[in-house]
Amino acid sequence: MRVCVAASRKGGVGKTNFCVQIGVASELAGVSTAYVDLDPMAGLSKWWARRTAETPILVRPEPDLATALEVCRKLGIGLVVVDTPPAVSQLVADAVALADLVVVPCQASPDDLDGIEGTLELLSASDTKSVFVMSRVKSRAAMVVDVVTALSHHGAVCPAMLADREDYKVSKIRGLSASEFKPKGAAANDVAALWHQIAQYVGVEHGSASVDQRVGAVGPEGNASAPRSGRGAKSKDGAAGRSSGAKRAGVASRAGKGAPATGDRAVKTAGRRPARPV
Ligand SMILES: Nc1ncnc2c1ncn2[C@@H]1O[C@H](COP(=O)(O)OP(=O)(O)OP(=O)(O)O)[C@@H](O)[C@H]1O
Ligand SMILES: [Mg+2]
Repeated sequence: MRVCVAASRKGGVGKTNFCVQIGVASELAGVSTAYVDLDPMAGLSKWWARRTAETPILVRPEPDLATALEVCRKLGIGLVVVDTPPAVSQLVADAVALADLVVVPCQASPDDLDGIEGTLELLSASDTKSVFVMSRVKSRAAMVVDVVTALSHHGAVCPAMLADREDYKVSKIRGLSASEFKPKGAAANDVAALWHQIAQYVGVEHGSASVDQRVGAVGPEGNASAPRSGRGAKSKDGAAGRSSGAKRAGVASRAGKGAPATGDRAVKTAGRRPARPV
């Protein structure tokens, strides 16, 4: 089982959108996937509650993320996608420490660059691999290049980006991801390219071909073809399939809307180390 955490000190940069899109992309690629929502604002849980599809499942962080991950492991989950609040807190630091990969969405704006310092402190306090993902990209203008260049001094920047597209918002209202809403749309295409990258970074295989082989087709323009659905998907440590469905403790049902954890103590950032890029 692998754990991918979306984290950023700055609000509104696309953490929840990343989780929504990558969780469904992972499931569509044949990887048993679970969400965990650590944000008290519960954006991911509220979106999930609007879904009619059974998957990805939502597992409550009760009493904490470590327990939720244990539930996921027993269910045979291949990938857990964790959303976090826009904070540098013990809650987020603990999530980063439990992750195999931390994804830091970042918009192409001076404000986002200015706000990156707190996130870097969070990353440098752990050994977890991390990658910046450009989010809500409006164009490939000079500002994008400048921000990518600046970020690359701090860590790896994913070559696949999520452009600013209405489909993310429209589909979210309906409890869908962009890939479910418009499978051949531009947003779905962005997500497919991003999924190929994330699958490689986090160490998840899907279908019969290895992710490493597929990722070779993904370029900076994010124009790879969509991953096909596959059976027998597993994380590289061998978890495959799902056991007894949503009846286990901690697994959310539609009747009981997802309740995220609280706990927002200040993070300890003493002994800062550089972030560990993918
Ligand atoms: N690529 C995108 N294109 C268009 N809209 C987007 C995109 N990504 C996110 N949004 C929208 O921007 C807003 C903020 O995104 P999101 O909620 O994912 O950010 P966040 O980092 O999770 O915010 P917070 O820190 O407050 O939890 C939402 O309305 C979302 O639908
Ligand atoms: Mg959010």
